[in-house]
Amino acid sequence: MNKCPQKFVHSLIWLLIFLPINPVNLFSQSLPQNGIPFHGLDVALDHVEDKLNGTLLELNFNPNLHPSLTVRETGKWDESKLDRYEWTSGFFSGTMWHMYRITGDESWKEKAEMWTEDLEDAATISYDHDTGFRIFNSFGNGYKLLKNRSYYRVLLKGANTLSNRYNPTIGAIKSWDWIGNFPVIIDNLMNLELLFWTADTIENNKLYNQALSHADLSLTHHMREDGSTYHIVDFSDDGTVIKKFTTQGCNSTAPGCGERSVWARGQAWAVYGFTMIYRFTKKERFLEAAIKASDYFIENLPEDRVPIYDFHEPVPSVKSKDASAAAIVASGLFELYSYTKNVLYFNTAVDILESLTSDNYSTINSDSNSILKKSTIHRGKGNVGTSYADYYYLEAIIRYMELVQVEFPIIETENNLYLDQNYPNPFNNSTMIYYTIEQEGNVKLSIYDYTGRLVQTIVDRSLPSGNYNIEFNSSGLSSGIYFYVLSSNKQTLSKRMTLLK
Ligand code: GLY
Repeated sequence: MNKCPQKFVHSLIWLLIFLPINPVNLFSQSLPQNGIPFHGLDVALDHVEDKLNGTLLELNFNPNLHPSLTVRETGKWDESKLDRYEWTSGFFSGTMWHMYRITGDESWKEKAEMWTEDLEDAATISYDHDTGFRIFNSFGNGYKLLKNRSYYRVLLKGANTLSNRYNPTIGAIKSWDWIGNFPVIIDNLMNLELLFWTADTIENNKLYNQALSHADLSLTHHMREDGSTYHIVDFSDDGTVIKKFTTQGCNSTAPGCGERSVWARGQAWAVYGFTMIYRFTKKERFLEAAIKASDYFIENLPEDRVPIYDFHEPVPSVKSKDASAAAIVASGLFELYSYTKNVLYFNTAVDILESLTSDNYSTINSDSNSILKKSTIHRGKGNVGTSYADYYYLEAIIRYMELVQVEFPIIETENNLYLDQNYPNPFNNSTMIYYTIEQEGNVKLSIYDYTGRLVQTIVDRSLPSGNYNIEFNSSGLSSGIYFYVLSSNKQTLSKRMTLLK
């Protein structure tokens, strides 16, 4: 593969010919002040490609299979955990979208599409909070690159499913249906990205307010004074706290742990989650929470920068390291660096990447097709590869490349559409919708109601380039919010309008 994107290599060669500086200095010019370079970048990218290809072979190229974790003894993907209902099903396709982003290689796009599209049904899985992991990592990553209408629709459907788990009395999304009364787990912060993103995209206050309320509740009840976090908070129906505990961290089966448990992957979700929530809300309290959670994580890291699965495990063992927690945090810290400019976060993330790229955590010298080894699923189930450690490892590498300004290949989105706000808005009986097409093509303009139900398609034909407007007549419709969605070829745009009768 191209170790670095081609454009970057070309500009590097050009500069080497014309400027009297060596490559190390050249590279360091893009680093933040006092930032350290990730020396393992090329090795890491080659290794990722190698193992993704190995996984495809191991799965016999069957896009209905979505790897989750490897079997400790064999290093093979666990065959009992390959279905789309696992919380992990979106990670493998997401990792392939990351590869497409880095390489621009159409064959990664084709594979990412196949594994993504198999997950469409997962947008309606309603028995847990993990819609974000399943749908946003797969369809969300695909949509960010392609801007295609079909993925957009699945994302809206997924957001609606997740939103239906919101309880207004408690002010949060119920994470699980199989334990306690109303458990909210720290991981749930991650799934808010689907709600915040959708709220932003379609300007939906309901989704935004639900996600914000959940984030605030989590901030109040999951985070301890020292910045560490609880795994699970169980609420009664009136919103009072019943109990705080852990199932995956060092639970009551570990003498001397229990209540003190700081489950490392949970802490990693808090670092990443609060940083991401700050991205959408710009509310300082979430940035402060992200900083506190990160500082706790960093201060408690061992020398090799990869934690044991729980910071309070009384009998720590190298068999219970959690590479997934380290990968998630590395990705989160790069984003946190971009807001705080505190180089400690950048450098810690680079240190983590170096460590994960070494023989200690990379499968470079093993037959296993996961990219990283030594993750822990829960207390007593450690030393395995996981598709989520792999996903966040590659995402962290991408974030590093963005921060040091490596150029990425241009991905064609066929961006040839413009959609204006309807006029008048709000409207009573009818309103005008204006749009522009820069390339001839098949154009579709449809109206959807607030629940995502198709109300009417008002344009569906091939049009030459030009400016257009069309009247939308609302007779027979009741007052409320509607969306008009314009698509042509692979691009989709939408806007919101309000009908007042
Ligand atoms: N969200 C499940 C886990 O982190 O294991």
